[in-house]
Amino acid sequence: MPKILMLAGDGIGPEIMEEAKKILSLFKDTFDFSFVEKPIGGAGIDKHGDPFPSETANEALTADAILLGAVGGPQWDSFPMAQRPEKGLLAIRKELGLFANLRPVKIWPALAGFSPLRPEKLENVSFTVVRELTGDVYFGQPRGIEIRGGTRVGFNTMIYSEDEIRRIAKIAFDMARKSQKIVHSIDKANVLETMRFWREIVSDVHKDYPDVHLEHFYVDNTAMQLIRQPSAFDVMLTPNMFGDILSDEAAVLSGSLGMLPSASIGGKQALYEPIHGSAPDIAGQGLANPIGMILSVAMMLEISFGRQDYAKIIDKAVGDCLAEGLRTGDIWSEGMQKVSTAAMGDAVAGKVAAAI
Ligand code: IPM
Ligand code: MG
Repeated sequence: MPKILMLAGDGIGPEIMEEAKKILSLFKDTFDFSFVEKPIGGAGIDKHGDPFPSETANEALTADAILLGAVGGPQWDSFPMAQRPEKGLLAIRKELGLFANLRPVKIWPALAGFSPLRPEKLENVSFTVVRELTGDVYFGQPRGIEIRGGTRVGFNTMIYSEDEIRRIAKIAFDMARKSQKIVHSIDKANVLETMRFWREIVSDVHKDYPDVHLEHFYVDNTAMQLIRQPSAFDVMLTPNMFGDILSDEAAVLSGSLGMLPSASIGGKQALYEPIHGSAPDIAGQGLANPIGMILSVAMMLEISFGRQDYAKIIDKAVGDCLAEGLRTGDIWSEGMQKVSTAAMGDAVAGKVAAAI
């Protein structure tokens, strides 16, 4: 029986995880699983003084898949870097070898009017950000804050090894083969050596994929093209930090950050989480949008358990609820029905139950 590790985390994490559970349990008859819940992030700090406690790490190593809510909150902001909630998320990604983060961006027809872009700009927008997740300036050494020549300085290291670039590039090209066969590789090769190297290695990997069209884009230009012509993208291959930034921008095209799921793969087991943060300002009030989390469950069923059929059912249920006008606050507009986190989860669950 597959074991799923649930890491609700902080802020709105626990409430959206409840909705994930609700959806998953509907498949119990044909997809039997057990689940374990453990703390991560701020919850780990509060319970064990560690954002990635060993009890969580041990469960992660034996789980078949992991669902994660969100980490972070103002109560831990003053903690030293190594003890911040975010460190828990970075540690689990690194320790499980989850070097590839897939963030699919799609436009839900019912939400097209809610996007900051005009609806005609959103036609045919469907792409995936393939973000490198365990390298770059996020993990590079040396890093720190120290005194140099009598002045305090802060520093980090942007670094990529050839192997790290090759393996993520392969994932992007393989993915492109299954869609529109276009990869945009994002860098800042005009300024940074690391990124010049990135471009060189991506071009080299591309030699094995002559059927895929490769474009190299600078990250600043990409930020602009995402707004000017988002339909041009199919697979967007990015280093860790640029992917973090661009995927938030991409998410808003779909109406709200709350809509986007993600899968982190590359290790023995994969981790699924919505791309949004812990939103401490609205936590515990039933205001959070559970859709990014619910769609992360769909990604898990498809990628970790080969149940594309279940993923489709969940996807359709979400689309139908939106089409009926159900909206959490972040995607609400005049004339729509405002619902709570749990009510949105119930509505999606109702449609999923009817379809299986
Ligand atoms: C994300 C988040 C994380 C990141 C934070 C919470 C560490 O912003 O998953 O996009 O920067 O990777
Ligand atoms: Mg981010």
